[in-house]
Amino acid sequence: MERLKKRFKMLKKLIIKAYNPWVIFHVPAVIMLLMLCWDYTLCKKLTSYSGYFALAFFVTTLLLNPLKSFKLKWVWVIKLNRYRRQLGVASFSYVLIHLTCFIIKRVMGGFLQGLVYFLHPAIIPAFFIAFPIMLVMAVTSNNYSVKRLSFAKWKRLHKTVYMAELAVMVHVVLMGSLRLMLFSFVPLCFLQFMRRKNRV
Ligand code: HEM
Repeated sequence: MERLKKRFKMLKKLIIKAYNPWVIFHVPAVIMLLMLCWDYTLCKKLTSYSGYFALAFFVTTLLLNPLKSFKLKWVWVIKLNRYRRQLGVASFSYVLIHLTCFIIKRVMGGFLQGLVYFLHPAIIPAFFIAFPIMLVMAVTSNNYSVKRLSFAKWKRLHKTVYMAELAVMVHVVLMGSLRLMLFSFVPLCFLQFMRRKNRV
């Protein structure tokens, strides 16, 4: 009986862990990684899918601040705001998969020729601006970094995300996804503008 109780407790813990936002937001990432391990030629398709996921998480994370400032009583805004850190880190995880797929795809055509693609006008803002900024954000998205840097410095550092936003916008447009850019960044920029206007 004691053993059964212990097992039941373990199962309960496992279920609670499975509902953890870290787990939920990373389920598609794990599936993509497994697919890539199964057949690396899938990298061609996965570059696009991981890009969409990275963008969706990135824009959702950035949308939450302006929506919160309008004091909306929408339950999902209140709930998602609790998980902004997880959403932001998840966006970086998808960018990592996106970059890995890109590297595999290009290395398949020859290592040196592949390096030239990093100097493509659409890749420069993504790889040299958005990626390093998102990396720093992901690494410092924890209480330890807030304490270590002090809240003011940490906040200043995290404001560089707006530079990443601009870089991603340029990347998506130059990749030929103008419609995607309009659907995601136009509402985001409008809400960010309204938030700034309300503050002044
Ligand atoms: C880290 C450096 C990056 C590299 C090397 C890179 C590379 C690429 C490539 C090669 C494509 C074309 C995919 C295809 O048509 O098959 C692409 C598209 C895309 N990327 Fe990136 N990317 C980077 C960063 C990012 C970031 C930071 C985001 C968003 C947060 C992003 C979102 C997208 C989106 C949404 C598309 C359009 C997908 C499509 O329409 O097929 N990328 N990227």
